[in-house]
Amino acid sequence: MTSIIFREPLVSDANSIWNLVTSNKPLDENSKYLYVLLCHQFSKTCVVAEHDSKIVGFLSGFISPKNPDTLFVWQAAVDDKFRNKGIAKELVFKALSQTEPSVRFVEATVTPSNKASLKFLQNFASQLDANFTKMPLFSTEILGNGHEPEDLVRIGPVQKNLLEVTA
Ligand SMILES: CC(C)(COP(=O)(O)OP(=O)(O)OC[C@H]1O[C@@H](n2cnc3c(N)ncnc32)[C@H](O)[C@@H]1OP(=O)(O)O)[C@@H](O)C(=O)NCCC(=O)NCCS
Repeated sequence: MTSIIFREPLVSDANSIWNLVTSNKPLDENSKYLYVLLCHQFSKTCVVAEHDSKIVGFLSGFISPKNPDTLFVWQAAVDDKFRNKGIAKELVFKALSQTEPSVRFVEATVTPSNKASLKFLQNFASQLDANFTKMPLFSTEILGNGHEPEDLVRIGPVQKNLLEVTA
């Protein structure tokens, strides 16, 4: 992990991030403009993982407008050559550590078939000894086009001092 740098994204990273997201199924594809906006407006709650100057991981998030104590993690993508090394988990550590002290919960949605997605969030919670809950959120009927349902994962409260110790 020493050769991986975790940092806030820059607008100049948006093209590489878009390429990473669009080549990592089953993530939903969005316009390149959206990633430019994320890098510009939401860089404090987004993180890239860089190896040899190449972006190999990305996590997008925002502070929930409904729950200002909650970081909502939206998309996470790790290049398949770098998977199962804890990079996604570290991306959440970094994103949460960039937030204000009052932000002590993490939420994300996961599709039931995406075992790696569920596991990295479970690993994040258990490393911090934080509560982990999962409940149905969006049904296939709501999401349309045969999209798998999305369950809501909620983690916390997190003891943020542990982020520095364990990161
Ligand atoms: C989901 C994703 C971001 C995880 O990235 P990652 O850096 O490999 O994640 P981590 O290494 O932190 O954790 C992955 C965990 O899942 C486990 N895992 C991987 N595939 C698994 C599977 N099919 N079944 C069960 N567990 C699995 C790994 O063993 C690891 O757990 P461990 O460290 O306890 O062994 C990556 O797989 C990815 O980019 N997938 C495609 C895009 C995607 O689905 N994004 C998530 C939805 S937003």
